[in-house]
Amino acid sequence: MTRIVVTRRLPGPALRALSEAGAVTIGAEEQDMPRAELLAAARGATALVTTLTDMVDAELLDAAGPVLRVVSNYAVGYNNIAVDEATRRGVAVTNTPDVLTEATAEFTWALLLAVCRRLAEGDALLRRGETWAWAPEFMLGTDVYGKTLGLVGLGRIGQAVARRARPFGMSVLYHGRHAADSTLETELGARHVTLDALLSQADVVSLHVPYSDRTRHLIGARELGLMKRTAYLINTSRGAVVDEVALVRALRSGTIAGAGLDVYEREPELSAGLNTLPNTVLAPHLGSATLETRTRMATLAADNVLAVLRGEQPPSLINPEVWR
Ligand code: GLV
Ligand code: GLV
Repeated sequence: MTRIVVTRRLPGPALRALSEAGAVTIGAEEQDMPRAELLAAARGATALVTTLTDMVDAELLDAAGPVLRVVSNYAVGYNNIAVDEATRRGVAVTNTPDVLTEATAEFTWALLLAVCRRLAEGDALLRRGETWAWAPEFMLGTDVYGKTLGLVGLGRIGQAVARRARPFGMSVLYHGRHAADSTLETELGARHVTLDALLSQADVVSLHVPYSDRTRHLIGARELGLMKRTAYLINTSRGAVVDEVALVRALRSGTIAGAGLDVYEREPELSAGLNTLPNTVLAPHLGSATLETRTRMATLAADNVLAVLRGEQPPSLINPEVWR
């Protein structure tokens, strides 16, 4: 019998579709399936639907055993999965790209605007019941209009962030391992520069790279030191792309002006001092968190499983080597 393990309850009709294809074991919505429970549930499973908080490593793949055919991650990022271990075992790995691109780009702009215009600080002030009055120099933020946005990574999400820059009157620099083709650069009005040039020229630096050994601590003390003292850092990618301790230090000492963060190096923990800095806007990993987007992610995660069960190549296969 086909067994499917879904580590967290997902929104929308996806679970029903999966339960028509096999016996589904579902974890809770609010918390991780405890590791021991996950290892036990995985035994003999054909498919695992995982989230970014589930570590899919050799131990879990071995616990599942030889009938396992697909690990479908409910996220675009898949740094929680040892893809090479899955590939070695002939297990397909899939993610949920595209469906969360616009939501994540919107959230990037929400953080950007919130930190530049001190929205969270102002909200907190009113909620504390402090006395306040309009004044010419009260809570001055910084314009984004006429400024330069520096995008580190110009994948789907980076591009979607860039598309929103023109209406806000920002010019765009980007850094990626490869320059985009000139048609795309023209469409986005984006110019390719080195990382150091981007850091020293941008008024807002926003990170859109996947997490890997190569991007771990891509932004550390040296890079923060290259940024303008008036510049802001936005991170909606993965926390460990930034050296968070170095970031706290830079925010505290005025090396940069502020940060808008959705992701953290040791989620759900925050580095000491981060949540007491006034010049930050902190969100609890909400980039893709809209009902529409999470529902589409669930549908795509289910479609990836259902395709594999039918013997078809899944729509968002990460390791095509297993499909030959
Ligand atoms: C969320 O962080 C994702 O990778 O989908
Ligand atoms: C990353 O996968 C992206 O969509 O930018």
